[in-house]
Amino acid sequence: MNAPAMVAEFDDVAGWTADAVERLGERYAIPAACRGSASPAALAWLAEACELAAGDLLLDVGAGVGGPAAWAASRFGVRPVLVEPMPSACRAASRLFGLPVVRAEGTRIPLRDRSADAVWCLGVLCTVRDKAAMLREFHRVLKPGASLGLLVIVARGSWVGPVPEGNHFPTRRELAALLDGAGFDLVEQVEAPSGVPLSWSRRSARVAAAVAARHSAEPAHRMAEGQGDIFGRLFASRQIATHLVHAAWRAK
Ligand SMILES: C[S@@+](CC[C@H](N)C(=O)[O-])C[C@H]1O[C@@H](n2cnc3c(N)ncnc32)[C@H](O)[C@@H]1O
Repeated sequence: MNAPAMVAEFDDVAGWTADAVERLGERYAIPAACRGSASPAALAWLAEACELAAGDLLLDVGAGVGGPAAWAASRFGVRPVLVEPMPSACRAASRLFGLPVVRAEGTRIPLRDRSADAVWCLGVLCTVRDKAAMLREFHRVLKPGASLGLLVIVARGSWVGPVPEGNHFPTRRELAALLDGAGFDLVEQVEAPSGVPLSWSRRSARVAAAVAARHSAEPAHRMAEGQGDIFGRLFASRQIATHLVHAAWRAK
């Protein structure tokens, strides 16, 4: 992942987000650290679909600043392990939540075969070129029959205008073929619920404002904002949509 705008978004802004949360207080941490457009309703859908249970080893790949994994630990009692390639994001997740974080690519996860009870991968697949390799790696580390929960930004059709740097959105049909090829049954796929309670969105907005107050003049902040603007236009024109996916491991 070398695209400068992605490094800005996933590394620089990740570290600034942790700094801002530390200034504002712990209650800001989870909403601010859910950076893959996950809302409490989307996370609850994924957790219920995957039937997460207390003590489960939940591997969150492309975990970013760790908000979704921390949410799952606090609401469902799982034991998360985070996998994330960007160094500032790894440090941010560790600082904010004290969760175990492994710095690695999702295509080469340093975990034993069949060791995870569930894998989550939220807002990540569209940033990865070799999606098939990543899904095969999830299949390797999951226990037989275990669940994979995805939040995926899918392309709805043909393109008008620019795509955010470094992103490659699969269509719904391409995603289904990728899952099948990697050894997963697609159990269910829905459009992500749109509502986010104000109690949550106000906290993430406050953190974003605190980050902007300190860093808006920096090129990395402008680049990350630029990515966000392009995403906003693609969602508004319905060229892309956020989907939640529950898939189940099957023998290859
Ligand atoms: C939109 S963020 C989502 C972060 C987190 N999953 C969440 O929902 O808050 C995408 C994350 O995927 C990570 N990522 C990108 N390419 C990756 C790869 N090849 N392997 C693992 N993670 C990757 C990025 O560093 C970034 O933290």
